[in-house]
Amino acid sequence: LASIEVDVSSLQPGMSLTAKWRGKPVFIRNRTDKEVEEAKAVALADLKDPVARNANLPADAQATDVDRSAGKDKENWIVMIGSCTHLGCVPLGQAGDFGGWFCPCHGSHYDTAGRVRKGPAPMNLAVPTFAFTSDTVIKIG
Ligand code: FES
Repeated sequence: LASIEVDVSSLQPGMSLTAKWRGKPVFIRNRTDKEVEEAKAVALADLKDPVARNANLPADAQATDVDRSAGKDKENWIVMIGSCTHLGCVPLGQAGDFGGWFCPCHGSHYDTAGRVRKGPAPMNLAVPTFAFTSDTVIKIG
């Protein structure tokens, strides 16, 4: 299937699910306010990869929290391909030194916006094309 629709109505803040799209895991997380605040507090200069890597935005968009998320009105939502940008392992959620995701294969740490902060991964976790089709359904692809 080129695109899928995912019901996220059961995801309270702090909960996530993994969908499968084009054979790859897609992480969908309803972030807590604290997770969003932590991500917003990071200076772009401190990022290993300052590019948003968000397929919904221009290729040169910066990796601000809002541009890594579902946008200004839904900034708590983050949707990412669950494939480590080092060699493609599936990172673990709510893990690692930055409270986001941790890839156990070679130790890459991602923050609560899925931005790589430490380890061999060269890029932030990729944000696929997606959109909310209602308040509780996300279309991916
Ligand atoms: Fe994730 Fe190597 S594949 S750190």
